[in-house]
Amino acid sequence: MELLIATGNPGKVREYEEMLATLPVKLFGLRDIGLGDMDVEETGTTLEENARLKAQAYAQASGMIALADDSGLFVDALDGAPGVYSARYGGYDLTMADRRALLLSQLQAISVDARSARFRCVIAVANPTNGELQMAEGVCEGHIAQEEDNGGAGFGYDAIFIPAGYAQNFSHIPPAEKNRISHRGRAAQAAVPLLQKLMNHT
Ligand code: IMP
Repeated sequence: MELLIATGNPGKVREYEEMLATLPVKLFGLRDIGLGDMDVEETGTTLEENARLKAQAYAQASGMIALADDSGLFVDALDGAPGVYSARYGGYDLTMADRRALLLSQLQAISVDARSARFRCVIAVANPTNGELQMAEGVCEGHIAQEEDNGGAGFGYDAIFIPAGYAQNFSHIPPAEKNRISHRGRAAQAAVPLLQKLMNHT
């Protein structure tokens, strides 16, 4: 079976190849099928809405079963910010390093035990032939560090997020282990039985 991973990022396709290795599917990224330039705006106010918007639009455009995800970092002391706006927190012109610094500065007065946070990832899978839609979610609990400590392995907010049960932040954790405990890895595990069901219906 073929499955479109609705991302223009080849790294993300490879990550899903590892996470969905138990399924008899061949994965394609948007670039592989000539849709690398098609942009679907993330206009939703929830991860669920954005994942659904992308999965349905790319399934429609490609005629393939399409998987899309949306994730974000939810900080309790900031009432869940940056959340669904994690990728553009503080404005479009900031770098990710700027965004990490902004988050740390907003938590400056917050004590170690009140810095709880979680990454959430929502996956939506859409079947264009019958309109079927399945959703899966993964959560990774943790807290925001007092300061950035870049271990070199990560991206986004990795260098300031310490997953529960670990002493170091995500950027120090090897990719295979991160995939096992991360929000995206957990959402992908939850999506496996849904994908099996969806493919049986085609
Ligand atoms: P996306 O929906 O996977 O593109 O994630 C949206 C934003 O959330 C990204 O731009 C990152 O800033 C942040 N993010 C999502 N997942 C991770 C992660 O595993 N580590 C660090 N930051 C992440």
